[in-house]
Amino acid sequence: MHPHLERVLVTEEEIRNRTAQLGADIARDYADKNPLFIGILKGACMFIADLVRAVEIPLEIDFMAISSYGASSKSSGVVRIMKDLDRPLEGRHVVVVEDIVDTGLTLAYLRDVLVHRRAASVKIAAIFDKPGGRSVDITPDYCGFTVPNEFIVGYGLDHAERYRNLPYVGVLKREVYEH
Ligand code: PRP
Repeated sequence: MHPHLERVLVTEEEIRNRTAQLGADIARDYADKNPLFIGILKGACMFIADLVRAVEIPLEIDFMAISSYGASSKSSGVVRIMKDLDRPLEGRHVVVVEDIVDTGLTLAYLRDVLVHRRAASVKIAAIFDKPGGRSVDITPDYCGFTVPNEFIVGYGLDHAERYRNLPYVGVLKREVYEH
């Protein structure tokens, strides 16, 4: 275990097994729909790479990068699109892939944007869900693990851009982020 962690919350094997289940669920739900998977950078890069390999139907992949408008944006929910999709999505069945849903503000905003662009459907796949952090009513359609309201890192989740490459997820020691 990384020395900056207090404990491991979800192991590499648990992530692998759960992702395989989610992939099978999505493949069943989207057979013949040629879904568009949209990974939200940067946190979702690990999960989307693993997830799509478990979805054994034809599909396409694209990415968006979004950024908050400074500190207050977490409460306003306004985000800025830093990198947009390469292709129009009108009429497409979309699966938004996220590492974590916390307040839910990012996804609530993004879902509205995608619906406004006339996607045929928009669903959300998140490997981690932190319902204790929620400030808007949004629930991932495909969820890997429910996590407690603690500072977690790994498998795409960072603190000051570190720890994203840990293959598991753990709780960061308080002294690492409080100094
Ligand atoms: C994280 C995560 C989600 C968002 C969730 O991204 O990847 O996009 O925050 O939080 P919310 O539910 O409170 O809106 P972050 O802005 O940290 O960017 P990153 O993925 O590049 O780390």
